[in-house]
Amino acid sequence: MNHQKILILDFGSQVTQLIARRVREAHVYCEVHPCDVTSDWVRDYAADGQLKGVILSGSHASVYEVDDRAPDAVFELGVPVLGICYGMQTMATQLGGKVEGSHTREFGYAEVRAHGQSGLLDGIVDFHTPEGDNMLKVWMSHGDKVTALPPGFEVMASTPSCPIAGMADEARKFYAVQFHPEVTHTVKGRELLERFVLDICGTRADWVMRDHIEEAVAKIREQVGEEEVILGLSGGVDSSVAAALIHRAIGEQLTCVFVDHGLLRLNEGDMVMDMFAGKLNAKVIRVDASELFLGQLAGVTDPEKKRKIIGGLFVDVFKAEAAKLKAAGNGAKGATFLAQGTIYPDVIESGGAKSKKAVTIKSHHNVGGLPEQLGLKLLEPLRDLFKDEVRELGVALGLPHDMVYRHPFPGPGLGVRILGEVKPEYAKLLQRADAIFIEELRSTIDPVSGKSWYDLTSQAFTVFLPVKSVGVMGDGRTYDYVVALRAVCTSDFMTADWAELPYSLLKRVSGRIINEVRGINRVTYDVSSKPPATIEWE
Ligand code: XMP
Repeated sequence: MNHQKILILDFGSQVTQLIARRVREAHVYCEVHPCDVTSDWVRDYAADGQLKGVILSGSHASVYEVDDRAPDAVFELGVPVLGICYGMQTMATQLGGKVEGSHTREFGYAEVRAHGQSGLLDGIVDFHTPEGDNMLKVWMSHGDKVTALPPGFEVMASTPSCPIAGMADEARKFYAVQFHPEVTHTVKGRELLERFVLDICGTRADWVMRDHIEEAVAKIREQVGEEEVILGLSGGVDSSVAAALIHRAIGEQLTCVFVDHGLLRLNEGDMVMDMFAGKLNAKVIRVDASELFLGQLAGVTDPEKKRKIIGGLFVDVFKAEAAKLKAAGNGAKGATFLAQGTIYPDVIESGGAKSKKAVTIKSHHNVGGLPEQLGLKLLEPLRDLFKDEVRELGVALGLPHDMVYRHPFPGPGLGVRILGEVKPEYAKLLQRADAIFIEELRSTIDPVSGKSWYDLTSQAFTVFLPVKSVGVMGDGRTYDYVVALRAVCTSDFMTADWAELPYSLLKRVSGRIINEVRGINRVTYDVSSKPPATIEWE
C-alpha cells in the first residue's frame, strides 16, 4: 500500500478506535499500535517517508499509576504530534512539563476557551462569550492535569478548573488537548482532527473505498497466486464482503462454503445463494445441515449448551467440507488458503490484549483456530478496515445496500431466539413472525429523519416464547404461542436502549403476525434496556 499515514499510539483508552475512525472518515489512512512499541520500531515504521503525523491516545490510567510513555522517537521524527488526554499528559511529562493529580475529576460536558490563534484551533469555535472569547463544547474525562508547560509550549485552551486544557508548540507542531475530540459529544471534534491530519500534518486524503478495491484485488492476487481459497460464507456483512472482494480478485479460485444450520431468517439461505451463486456467479457449496443441527438440539434447553452444540457442529461441518476441498479443490491441487472476514477492530483488540493495554471484552468468536487445525494459510482481506469501511466497500463491489447495512445476526441464529428447547415447528413460526417485523420496520419511514425504522434501530428481531396464551379469533377460542418483539438502539452493543418505536408500527406488526402466522396469538414488546437485560433473550 502506498498511502501516507498517521500512526495512533494506543495507551489503552476505550475510545482509541474512535480516533482511528475519525481519521479514516477524513479519508486518511491510519493504524493503531500499542504504545509500548520501541523507538526503533517507530523509526522503522517511518522509514518509507509516508508517516505524516502521530496521535497519542487517552488511557484509563493515570500517568502516576503506569509508566507508559510514548517512544522518544515520536518526538524526534520531525512530524506533528497530537496528544489527547493521557496523550497530552505523557507528552507534557516527557518534554519537561509537569502533571499533577487533582482532587476533582472532570467528567462529561465542558466548555473550553481557546487561546490565541493556534494552528490547531484557529477558526474552530462553537460560540463566543460576551467578552468575545472563542469557546468549544467538549467532552472531558480526566483526574490528572498538566500544571506546568514544557519548554517551547504555550497555552492553547483552558477551563476554570483546568487552566492548561490545551497546549501547543507551534514551531515543532506538537499539540495536545485534555478533552476528547474523537467522541461525538465534542461538537467540533471531527473538525479538529481533520485540521490536524489534513492541514497540520499535510496528509493526502487518498483513503477512498472505491479506489481501495483495485489495491485490495492486487494484494489478494499477489498473495494467492495460482492457489485456491475456501471461505465460510455466513450471510453476515463481513464474510459477504470478503467473498465478493476475493471473488473479484481470483474468481474461480475461490470456493465458498455456506453451512445452513436451519436456524437462519426466513428465506435467508436462498437469498445468500441467489446473490453469490446467482448474481456474482461465485462457486458456493450449500450444506444443508438443518436436520443434523435440529436433531442434536432436541431436548436441550440450556442456552449455553445450545450455543456450544451449534458452534461445535458448525465447525465440524465446515471442517469436513474444507477438508474435502483441501484434498480435491476445484482443480488438481486443492485449496491452500482459508479466507476469513476479520476486520480491523478484531486486529486492534487482539493486539491490545497482547500488550495488556486495552481493557476490552470480546465474547463472541466465530471460527478461531480453524486455519491451524486445517493446515491452511490465512487470507484476511478486510483486516485493515473498520465496519463502516467494510460496508462502503461492499456497496462499491455491487452488493445490495440492504445486505450490507443489515443488523447483526448472532452465529447461533434463531437457536438463541427460541427460548428453551429448539423445535423445527417453533423455528418455522418464528421465521415468519420475524420476517413480518423486519418488513414493517423497513417500510415504515420516520417523517422527522426520513429514515426507515430499520435504519433507526441497531438490532431488531422477534423472540419465540414457548408458552401458550388464550385468545379469541372469530367465534373461536385460541390457545397459541406468544412472541416478543425486540428492537434496540446502541452504538457499541455493550449498552443498549430499547427503541421507542411508534405505537402505530407496533400495532401493525402485531396485527399482521397474529393474523398471518397461525399458531401465534399474542405479541409483546420488550421494554428492557441493557444492562441489566441483554439484547438477546438467551
Ligand atoms: P447480548 O445479548 O450479549 O448481545 O446483549 C450483544 C450482541 O452480541 C450478539 N450475540 C451473539 N453473536 N454469537 C454471536 O455471534 C452469540 O452467541 C451471540 N450472542 C449474542 C447479539 O446479537 C448482539 O448483537
